[in-house]
Amino acid sequence: MNNFSHKIISWYEVSGRKNLPWQKDITPYRVWLSEIMLQQTQVETVKPYFMRFLEKYPKIGDLACASTDDVLALWSGLGYYNRAKNLHKTSIIIHEDYQGAFPTCLDRLTELPGIGSSTAGAILSLSMGKRGVILDGNVKRVLSRFHLIEGYLEDKTTTDELWRHADRHTPAIETNVYTQGIMDLGATICKRSAPACSECPLVNRCGAHRYHMTEQIPRR
Ligand code: ADE
Repeated sequence: MNNFSHKIISWYEVSGRKNLPWQKDITPYRVWLSEIMLQQTQVETVKPYFMRFLEKYPKIGDLACASTDDVLALWSGLGYYNRAKNLHKTSIIIHEDYQGAFPTCLDRLTELPGIGSSTAGAILSLSMGKRGVILDGNVKRVLSRFHLIEGYLEDKTTTDELWRHADRHTPAIETNVYTQGIMDLGATICKRSAPACSECPLVNRCGAHRYHMTEQIPRR
């Protein structure tokens, strides 16, 4: 295992988040539901919605058999309603075409509405014990600072470079711990403003820290 992932995993064991609702009774359905909600919404806002969805739709088949209007009503307040529409569409596909079980490979997962490469990587690693690579907003911030990537995040060359680093750093074992760890590091230490660099396990090798560039990177 490489040094970068080793440091993230050791940091997670001590300081990472371990009591989030989607970290209990882990299944692909629960992880998928949480990841869709977390795509554009903060953890604290997501928690009550996640609990309400599971109470009303304990299994993916329950969600598939619901009306779109009922799903949208329960989603109401979370915003970005295309997420709810795609959530419902995907539940129907899983229920009807996959006998209720999520596919276990990246290519099949990313065919599903609302599931991009990063969400698919999170589902694979967090719920299936497989190697999956993630690159969400938190991870982009950690990697662009660490590697001193000064290009605009919106540029394809920047995104491609970040994916290469994300892939290179992702270990083949303990991928779930690494995945949750790098997201938690981004959310709690490598924050957008006033990052807590003195508490960061990567500080000694971080390019943005070395050149006092944490406020300029990532560039939007
Ligand atoms: N943001 C996206 N996925 C997350 C997760 N599994 N835990 C906390 N924040 C997240």
